[in-house]
Amino acid sequence: MKFFIDTANLKDIQEAESLGILDGVTTNPSLMAKESISGDDNVRAHYKKICDITPGDVSAEVISTDLEGMKREAAALVKIADNIVVKIPMIREGVKALAWCRDQGIRTNCTLVFSAGQAILAAKAGATYVSPFIGRIDDIGWEGMTLISDIAEVYAVQGFDTEILAASIRSGSHIVAAAKAGADVVTCPLSSFESLFKHPLTDIGLEKFLADHKKALSVVS
Ligand code: G3P
Repeated sequence: MKFFIDTANLKDIQEAESLGILDGVTTNPSLMAKESISGDDNVRAHYKKICDITPGDVSAEVISTDLEGMKREAAALVKIADNIVVKIPMIREGVKALAWCRDQGIRTNCTLVFSAGQAILAAKAGATYVSPFIGRIDDIGWEGMTLISDIAEVYAVQGFDTEILAASIRSGSHIVAAAKAGADVVTCPLSSFESLFKHPLTDIGLEKFLADHKKALSVVS
């Protein structure tokens, strides 16, 4: 399973890259706004900075909702760097844009996916990645993770090669559940990855090993 970080914060991306386990980055207009990045030129310059930090896939989202606008944006975004993947929303025009990108050899990430039916459309249109939003389904009181297993089952039965990118992942337990459910990729904030490090028995065990080592040294000297 691949690990993507879901942020436009350069410091967090650098930190995740330094762990040696980062496979890519996802962003969206809200995450760019959180970093106070606005205007086409600034947004593109920021994507370039992200692509300079990581060789992994970097999802850059279109703002247009009409086909011609999405095509124009996709063509401009892929010029930024070879590792740009164009993120396109799951709307009618978006499906057309996904198919156009497929025909142009442009890699895509179909975002805002909330049902297995939408995931089928994305795969049929040749999306490289499909992004089901797990946390947002949990937010409305449904079980988000069943969507990952449903899509994994459909894709396996049908032989679709679109990768399942579990998005809106907000905790370490979400990451583990997505891995078990068949996600090819998880994307989440740095804090969710960091929560995977933590276990009290690791800390207690290390403290004991180091104390015993020190004790043994003092006996020898
Ligand atoms: O990649 C999509 C993700 O950014 C959405 O996460 O936590 O805003 O639902 P969240």
